Amino acid sequence: RSRDGVLEVTLDASPGRMRIGGRNATTLGYNGGLPGPTLRVRAGDRLAVTLRNGLTDPTNLHTHGLHVSPEGNSDNPFVVVEPGDSFDYEFRLPADHPPGLYWYHPHHHGVAAGQVFGGLYGAIVVDDPLPIPVTRERVLVISDLTLDSAGNLTRSTVAERMHGREGELVLVNGQLKPSVDIRSGERERWRIVNACASRYLRLRLDGQELHLLGLDSGRFAKPEKVDEVMLAPGNRADLLVTASEGSTALRAVPYDRGSDGMMGGGRGSSLAEVTLATVTVEGADAGAGDTADSLPAIPRQATPVDLRGATVTARREFVFEMGMGGMMGGGGMGFTINGREFDGGRVDTTVQGGSVEEWTLTNASQMDHPVHLHVWPMQVVERVGRAVDSVLWQDVVNVPARSAVRVRVAFTGFTGKTVYHCHILDHEDNGMMGVIDAR
Ligand code: C2O
Ligand code: CU
Ligand code: CU
Repeated sequence: RSRDGVLEVTLDASPGRMRIGGRNATTLGYNGGLPGPTLRVRAGDRLAVTLRNGLTDPTNLHTHGLHVSPEGNSDNPFVVVEPGDSFDYEFRLPADHPPGLYWYHPHHHGVAAGQVFGGLYGAIVVDDPLPIPVTRERVLVISDLTLDSAGNLTRSTVAERMHGREGELVLVNGQLKPSVDIRSGERERWRIVNACASRYLRLRLDGQELHLLGLDSGRFAKPEKVDEVMLAPGNRADLLVTASEGSTALRAVPYDRGSDGMMGGGRGSSLAEVTLATVTVEGADAGAGDTADSLPAIPRQATPVDLRGATVTARREFVFEMGMGGMMGGGGMGFTINGREFDGGRVDTTVQGGSVEEWTLTNASQMDHPVHLHVWPMQVVERVGRAVDSVLWQDVVNVPARSAVRVRVAFTGFTGKTVYHCHILDHEDNGMMGVIDAR
């Protein structure tokens, strides 16, 4: 937690011995743990991180979703920290930075999927100016990995790198199927990050009342009563859980994110149901179930800017493609945006600082791509030809197979070069990433 507006922390990225599901395992981690420490800051704070690379490959650090400068030693995805080296990052959050749950992970092109899948991730909380009245707040970092019989990380197969690797073990805060105790009648705030490299999480907590406050850095005007929450890789949920009698489980239920159409049509194991945690509710129900009307007053955030009325200075289309179509052009595996694979030395998109643009994200392939833009959140304005009528700011927007989503982005606050990419990290490593320069 920050003090006097500053949080200084060292993150040591290295392999380590962990205890996972009652077994000894060797994974990656920050400061010997998985997930890494939760960093708590406030709008206006300075976050100073010394990153030490104890890995055998280059790495770096990305503060996913934070609205901070993409340049210099801030959230610069082009920084390379070689094995044995360290790097001093400094992230300055503007005074009007939206509160919410964010996260950090490595972003070195080509090895990002393996490093995240190996255990390198952690949560960042930007505190609410006014606390939300709940009995308890929990941060749940959900991730997955696969261990061999000796407890070592497995190597990914070509098929996994095409489709996006999904682990056999799905962990909550580094634990396999932990148990969570709640008291009946109490209300908790669960802040959940999908830190999986590729797995989609369609989360359910049957028998309990759920209200979604927001997703990513966006918050709904009013909490929305939901039965399930869908998190693509990189997404976060801000969820109120009102406990009522009866024990239950936090589950990820099947979601079909499509097939890569290659290698006999590899499909993800998001298709299988997983129990993430058992939830025991103690005590009997005090009375009638809660309804949205009986929710405590949620302190209002600053009204989100609505870009639907904004003057758009440029309209662009980004076509996400994979497989033979894309493979014709280059020598790689054919993961392209507008026909091109990532090249860090090239600028793909130049935007004017301060302007508002409308982007059409078109998925020309047979599987979903969760599209992520650094630094500037996106407002979804149209999904598959249907207008969207709530204002929600997200930094990962899922574009379903053979479909399109339209977003608007205000390039305010910072200038500089950064990236947009598919957050199935294997797709990103395989080239589905572009460089944007705001100036
Ligand atoms: Cu969470 Cu560019 O990544
Ligand atoms: Cu990011
Ligand atoms: Cu993708």
